[in-house]
Amino acid sequence: MVKFPVEPFKIKVVEPIRQTTRAEREEILHQAGYNLFAVRAEDVYVDLLTDSGTSAMSDHQWAGMMLGDEAYAGCRNFFNLEETIEAITGFQYFVPTHQGRAAENVLFACTVEPGQSVPSNMHFDTTQANVIARGGHPVNLVAAVGLDPTAHVPFKGDVDIERLEAFIQETGPEHIPLGMLTVTNNSGGGQPVSMANVRATSEVLHKYGIPLFLDACRYAENAYFIKLRDPDYNETPVLEIAREMFSYADGCTMSAKKDGLANIGGFLAMNDEGLYRRVCQELIIREGFPTYGGLAGRDLEAIARGLWEGLDERYLAYRLAHTGYLAGRLVEEGIPILEPPGGHAVYLDVKRFLPHIPQSELPGQALVCALYLEGGIRGVEIGSVMFAHEDPQTGEVVYPDLELVRLAIPRRVYTQAHLDYVVETCRRLYERRGELRGLRYTYAPRLLRHFTARFEPLS
Ligand SMILES: Cc1ncc(COP(=O)(O)O)c(C=O)c1O
Repeated sequence: MVKFPVEPFKIKVVEPIRQTTRAEREEILHQAGYNLFAVRAEDVYVDLLTDSGTSAMSDHQWAGMMLGDEAYAGCRNFFNLEETIEAITGFQYFVPTHQGRAAENVLFACTVEPGQSVPSNMHFDTTQANVIARGGHPVNLVAAVGLDPTAHVPFKGDVDIERLEAFIQETGPEHIPLGMLTVTNNSGGGQPVSMANVRATSEVLHKYGIPLFLDACRYAENAYFIKLRDPDYNETPVLEIAREMFSYADGCTMSAKKDGLANIGGFLAMNDEGLYRRVCQELIIREGFPTYGGLAGRDLEAIARGLWEGLDERYLAYRLAHTGYLAGRLVEEGIPILEPPGGHAVYLDVKRFLPHIPQSELPGQALVCALYLEGGIRGVEIGSVMFAHEDPQTGEVVYPDLELVRLAIPRRVYTQAHLDYVVETCRRLYERRGELRGLRYTYAPRLLRHFTARFEPLS
């Protein structure tokens, strides 16, 4: 029997949700072009589209919202946030941004020239798109075991250090303006990166004069995984672990919509003063003045408070147990998932769930649609729709190694009963998996295709 998660909070405010009929869902899906991003949230029963910006904020955060200082320049909430970010990351400079991708946009605008490469363990879709939008090449160098959905190793988000060094030598450090590490590795199953790997990545990049930036959206979950899985850190407070992770980097991008437990916001932090000056210029053009960066003062306060709550060890223990509960129950039912589960989501392993649908027929998207039809559950495809691309040399379509459907768990939102409902729906679907069919595109934009593409079922 899977150990169940015990919530370190009680519920004070509730939001009604409703179940639709199967006939209604068929029509909704058809109207949405078989893309769940085009479905209204009120037509979803359990919404596992993302853990981003979907957290339930605490009473302490809501109280802080009332203390929002909406001055254009120098609002007090900026200084509260500055103190928090300095205490957690140790970085000397930071600017707020309206969310994580805005931090990426500003960072790459100030660092990446056309033709340059940005290596990472694995770029998330927005990071990848922001590098490409600057004419750069995003390069994924996660260790091979990170691409094996059945390998039970503790740190599947680690970068392959030998490949990283070989890549730098082949490409030339002058063509690599920065390296990145995504903690945890969202596109690779929410898998953590070990402290040893953060340190080794930093050493290799620094040997060639290349700065390291963390994509730190889920740094607290990553730090807690290190505490649980690395015996050297079992007794170390999670704040100290986080500080050590950041100490090996030169800066970070952050979507505060994840481990910041806020509904909107992000930031870009760094140690290089020259870069900070350029970032401020870019920020003023794109986001806003450096003491608000596209956010209201009340949002800055919610982030400042949320960042501390996201580091609370009782919260983190519950958080990983909650995700682990869903994963464990699915495994008990024999449903193939990426193992071990990540921190923020459970990923259905589509290649084993629907082996009869080839990647060219978009099996992940087919499974996303089937989950919605079966139970009004919304997940997201992280597979061929999100990542397949044409090889510029051969013109052939290159499919990703992992074909996944992510069931991302909003923080402090759903109960164990909701998770049991998800398991039951997946079980019913798995029983008749042979009946599911693939999809084809009726519309597909060039960048970030999954958000707006439209599909139709193959007969
Ligand atoms: C690893 C990672 N990086 C960057 C982002 C982008 O953050 P945002 O959605 O706040 O723009 C996300 C969002 O899901 C993410 O998971």
